[in-house]
Amino acid sequence: MLKSLDDIDLAGKRVLIRTDFNVPLADGRVADDTRIREAAATIREVLAAGGRPVVMSHLGRPKGQPRPDLSLKIVVPDLSRILGDVPVTFARDCVGDAAREAVEAGRDGVVLLENLRFHPGEEGNDPNFAVELALSGDCYVNDAFSSAHRAHASVVGVPERLPAVAGRLLQHEVESLEAAFAQPARPALALVGGAKVDDKLKAIAHFSQRFDAVAVAGGVANTFLRADGREVGGSLVAPDLLATAQEIRDHARDQGCELILPEDVVVADEVAPGAAGRTVPVAEVGPGDRIVDLGPRSVARIVEELAKATVVAWAGPLGAADKGFPEATEAVAREIVRLGRESGLRSVAGGGETMAALRAAGLADGFGYLSLGGGAFLKWLGGERLPGLQPLLRSPPAA
Ligand code: 3PG
Repeated sequence: MLKSLDDIDLAGKRVLIRTDFNVPLADGRVADDTRIREAAATIREVLAAGGRPVVMSHLGRPKGQPRPDLSLKIVVPDLSRILGDVPVTFARDCVGDAAREAVEAGRDGVVLLENLRFHPGEEGNDPNFAVELALSGDCYVNDAFSSAHRAHASVVGVPERLPAVAGRLLQHEVESLEAAFAQPARPALALVGGAKVDDKLKAIAHFSQRFDAVAVAGGVANTFLRADGREVGGSLVAPDLLATAQEIRDHARDQGCELILPEDVVVADEVAPGAAGRTVPVAEVGPGDRIVDLGPRSVARIVEELAKATVVAWAGPLGAADKGFPEATEAVAREIVRLGRESGLRSVAGGGETMAALRAAGLADGFGYLSLGGGAFLKWLGGERLPGLQPLLRSPPAA
């Protein structure tokens, strides 16, 4: 149970809000403003309660160095538009004089601090940096579920120094995920695909706690296939995780969690829209092939598992949906939506790629819950401890 905005008096206070404005950028502007729109409820509630929001976030991975192309200034026009007539003051640094002056100058609206990751102290959770950040607030609100898996200064260091509660978005994310896995939550099926292979492979090592079966696709599946000695051609794999993949597979089997690998796949010469795809059994993938999607037998196998499931969690498209190969992703999504409507299958999906694929297919609204978190969502699913949630718990965790 998390402490929330209901548990804190905000009137007259500077409220340091950790949001996740790590938004996709294209052509010098924000390409998808979902994370900004979703953060607005908490900012508005703080304003309505007489608080002064001071918003902080990271953007991209600048590795402790200022990078003009990753300045959060890019977010200001979208934040201003979304908040309507509330003035937004931008601080050209998240700490020091620039932050102090902006917090003072922006008393009548919202202050947005520059990218936290321009300082190495953010990712290093440097106590001095956390103290500096905390100077801009009288209390702290974490509204960034999608960053809750990072033990960074703005996520764990600042709430050690200020009264801390969860914002509405974070609260909603956690409550929605908990509701999806409320009892009965078995059989539970996970679908894991997409491109970020390292994080996903490591996360599913923990999935046997919560899931009866995990169907893998994309780069994660390719890595398991490769670890089995199969040919995957020029497909995406994590070559340094082949031994880990074997261990994960053995562990899942020992725990009674079935790992479902593709039986057939669609291959092409290149991963690009318009490239011609051919369906082949996994045993017939050639050295010049690139795996771009699951084949119909693999989809049918997942559909069979869905029919037995009470809850399904999905992280990562099943093929290169954004590069002209959305068929398997769409077929499985349609089935989840149908089963949700007709037999109450509970469904959650997470991560930017997954959401984009479901939206492109017009199927996002049929899902029970879409999480903005990618890595955090995966860790939550695996029952891993998210450091950012710990300071927000109503009763501290047992030592
Ligand atoms: C995300 O986009 O998943 C979050 O903003 C976390 O970003 P990170 O993986 O760079 O920490």
